[in-house]
Amino acid sequence: MASSLPHTLPSEALASFVRDGYLVLPHFFTKVECRALIDQAATLIAAFDPSTSATTFSTEDEVESRDAYFLGSGDKIRFFWETKAKVINKIGHALHALDPVYRTFSTAPKLASLCQALGQANPTIVQSMHIFKSAEVGGKVDWHQDETYLSASPGGVLGLWVALEDATEANGCLWALPGAHRSGLKKRFVRDGMKTTTEELDPVPWDTSAKVPLPVPQGSIIVLHGLLPHMSEPNTSPASRHAYTLHLMDHGATFSPSNWLRPAPLRLQNELI
Ligand code: FE2
Repeated sequence: MASSLPHTLPSEALASFVRDGYLVLPHFFTKVECRALIDQAATLIAAFDPSTSATTFSTEDEVESRDAYFLGSGDKIRFFWETKAKVINKIGHALHALDPVYRTFSTAPKLASLCQALGQANPTIVQSMHIFKSAEVGGKVDWHQDETYLSASPGGVLGLWVALEDATEANGCLWALPGAHRSGLKKRFVRDGMKTTTEELDPVPWDTSAKVPLPVPQGSIIVLHGLLPHMSEPNTSPASRHAYTLHLMDHGATFSPSNWLRPAPLRLQNELI
């Protein structure tokens, strides 16, 4: 039962998450667990027929993200290309629900326990992505808050960013603005049918002079508050930077119907009973 899971997060870690809006947990997953996802991604790509994909994806270009292929990917496994090279940018957005290898990884009891320690009584995965950040060509992801794209109330969404390989400044690790999650949401990307728009809620730009890099070794998790601004630079190095990301909300929360995503929710508690 989920209620018997250990809540192992030290109080100092919880306090730093509340203060900074992120938390780095080194070596949360093993190298073997990380390798299983990298290998499975290669298997999925080998079986993928590129003629069935219809779009590229880049957060630098919202127009592309409005494509129907993207909007229909919430409950499927779909493939998205880099804009400047013919390589995969990411696979999303229901790996957690549809692929057995990703499902096993995503339902690890230690992951559910972590989310419970962070306040989600019944953590529920609503989105998953395998992000490739390929050597030499992995593109930049500009400053953003995840709740621009995924909103849930009460409690918001929690982002879990798992480094499947070492993430360094050279290969495009995450950067964050500590504490800026307390300044509210800047934008909302909303969907109405097949139409999407971006609503500006606060035009004051972030002061990015206080940005910090978050380089982490393979297997680490970076927990992201849904309102924390974060970004990553292009990968100009010879090393790829694979990451697996999950977004979760509490089962008792309401997933905003104006979110672009039509999810395949997976309640971790159910998995553990
Ligand atoms: Fe993000």
